[in-house]
This record gives sequence, structure tokens and C-alpha cells, in this order.
Amino acid sequence: MARDFKDKVIVLGVTGSVAAYKACELASRLVEAGAEVIPVLTSGGREFVGAASLEGITGQRAITDMFEPAQNPEIEHIALARRADLFLIAPASANVIAKSAHGLADDWLSTTLLATRAPVLYAPAMNTKMYQHPATQDNIALLKRRGCHFVGPGSGALACGEFGPGRLIDTPAILEAASIALRNDHSLEGKHVLLTSGANHEPIDPVRFIGNRSSGKMGYAIALEALKRGAQVTVITGPCDVAPPFGVTIIQADTAVTMLDAVTDLLPSADIFVAAAAVADYRIENPPTKKQKRDDQPLRLELTPNPDIAAHVGLTRAAHQIAVGFAAETHDFLEHAQRKLQEKQLDLIVANDVSGADSGFGTETSRAWFLTPDEEAEVLPLLAKSELAERLFTRILALPRAAAVCDG
Ligand code: CTP
Repeated sequence: MARDFKDKVIVLGVTGSVAAYKACELASRLVEAGAEVIPVLTSGGREFVGAASLEGITGQRAITDMFEPAQNPEIEHIALARRADLFLIAPASANVIAKSAHGLADDWLSTTLLATRAPVLYAPAMNTKMYQHPATQDNIALLKRRGCHFVGPGSGALACGEFGPGRLIDTPAILEAASIALRNDHSLEGKHVLLTSGANHEPIDPVRFIGNRSSGKMGYAIALEALKRGAQVTVITGPCDVAPPFGVTIIQADTAVTMLDAVTDLLPSADIFVAAAAVADYRIENPPTKKQKRDDQPLRLELTPNPDIAAHVGLTRAAHQIAVGFAAETHDFLEHAQRKLQEKQLDLIVANDVSGADSGFGTETSRAWFLTPDEEAEVLPLLAKSELAERLFTRILALPRAAAVCDG
């Protein structure tokens, strides 16, 4: 995600909320990722966090007032409104949301929000009753209709003693939403991307399982990329080391059979299916319900083949649906991947070298090829999994079948 923020100009609006101190952590993460962060404090924001803190973290003068001496505020706010790549309002009070919804311009932030055409992301933080009030809800709905982005709020105990929605959502969720807003990509708007991700754990008994080394990182990268392109995303995930992105619907399915059931349920609503899970090829048909006792005799397990989820989708999907798979290989990459492409009746397969220290399970990068039924294999350089995911959707959208998906 870090490369999304490199050299971007982000105006960080901090408004009146107890959570304003968290803007410091947010600013720091953005600066670390290479963004130029211009802090803007409203009078409410100044009650809760000091301009000096934000100035120290960002290395930029904090804008605190419409009319500071020796400045031409008219020109300054228009210039920044033009230069900004993103306006991020975190925390966003009920007041700034209401002012933005109705076009009020009585301080630096609200004035600049009217002047900018950059994407705007609000991370609301307020008392639960204020958040749930129809006035606030209508204002949020109005801003969303105009294309503004929202992330959160989270739920929990609030500083005012109430419990419910209104907490500023955690920094990682805000960063993820900011990367989506910055991209401003609508290439999968209105489309449903369904994907399997992670490993499978096939039980041997109640305490033991057969598993594999999938970390879920590739699935995470694919889900986030689909979100950045405006898709609705459902991730059917087995056990993994990373939490899927915040904006996706997550369905936990630890075994191949439960994963297939979930895929079968959701497939009718999917436009693009991506099989990124390392599905277990075998299971124990009826694992014992009691923990098996150890003795010094060899143990034999009888394994039953699992259903092939990608093949099921490839063979049963509707004509307008796109089916994509991965081929995790250690040798003869293209031969194996070509066979899987045909047998599973997929539109595209990503052959993936899982043998290297820099490519495969748990790594941050991947060495891969794209194979389609009609064209020469495309060799890709060693890529970060996020870059591979970006190229994958660009390639998917160039498939002949994508015309039907994207026009429909
Ligand atoms: N796959 C699946 N269901 C299975 C096995 C694999 O959906 N039971 C999917 C994977 O998610 C991947 C593709 O099929 O998209 C290829 O998986 P891979 O493990 O590389 O190959 P297998 O078909 O399992 O064959 P092999 O283990 O012999 O390489």
C-alpha cells in the first residue's frame, strides 16, 4: 500500500473530536509512506491536538486560520485545493460533515473543501446519538451521492460514556480507504469480485489437521486491488496470516468442502471469480471426534480427494462470468499451468513460482506468468504481490470475455 502514497499531496483535516490525537499517528504513517501531508486544524480540532505536534510530524506549517497575517488566504486555499491529491478529514465531526454537505464555507477547511475537485475521504468520529441522528445520516448519504468516500466509524465504548458507533476507525482502515480514494479508479464499479484465499486445514481429529503454507498475502492483494477499482469484493478465506482488507465481505471456510459450498452459494452474483486459495487436495472423510492417542506403530491415514473448486467454477459458470486461477508450481511452470488452464476451463491462469526465497508462500514478491487459452504466455518480472494484483486486473479487463462483464 505504501507506494500508493509516494509523492502524493494529502491535506489532513483535523476537526473537533477527542480522537483528534490519533491524527498524529495517521500523519506519521502517511509521511513514512512518502506523502506530503499538509495538516489543517479547525478551531474544534485545535482544542484537542496541538498544531506543533502535527507540524513536527509532517514538517509542514499547520493551517489553523482563515486569516493569518502576511498571507493571502484566498489564493492560498485555492492553490492547495488544486494541488492536493486527496483531502482526508480524520477525525471528521458532525459539524464538518454537515458544512460540507450544505456548502458552508466559514473557515479554512470548509472553504477549501468547496474549492477542491480532489477526492475527499471522511473518517467520522462523534457521539453515537449524533452519528445516528437523521440529520447526520442524511448529510453522509448526500456526500456519498456526490462521490465522497467514508471509512468507519468503528463501534465500541466512546469517551462520552456511551457504547455504539462513533469511534474513529483504526489507522490501518483509514490508510486502506485513503489508498482506494486516491486511486479514483472505477474500472470495476458495480461488479462483484469473488475470491478464495488462504490455506485449508483438513482435520485429522479435533486437535490436528493437514495444512499448507499459504499465507493469504496474494489473496489480500487481489481483494485490495479489486476494492481500489470500485468492485464489491467477497473473500472466502481459509486460515491465513493476514487479515483481509477492511472493505470486503469475509466468509470463513477452513476446509475445501466448506469453501466449495460458499463459492457455490455466491457464484451466481459474481462477475469475476479468482481462485487464489491453496486448496487442500485431500481430506479425511470422517475424522474421529475424539483426540487420537499416540502409540509407536506407524499411522496410516486414508485420504479422499477433495472437489476442485476452480474446475467447478470453470465448468459451471455463466457465459458472462470470468474465471481466473493460480498454478503454484516448483518446476515445469508453463506445462503444468497450461494443463490446469485447460482442465479447469479457466479464462486466465497465473503460473506462480513457489520454489524461490523471493517468490511463493509467505513472501512479499512473486515471480509469475499469465496464461490464456489463445495467447502466448506473458512473462512478468519479479513483482510485489500488490503490483501483480494490479497487473492481473488490467489483464483480466483486456480478456475478450471482459467486454460482456464490463458492459453488462
Ligand atoms: N484449486 C481449487 N480446488 C482444488 C485444487 C486447486 O480451486 N481442489 C485451484 C487453486 O485455487 C488454484 C488452481 O486450482 O487456483 C490450481 O491449484 P494448484 O494447487 O496449483 O493445482 P492443483 O489443481 O491442486 O494440482 P497439483 O496440486 O497437482 O499441482
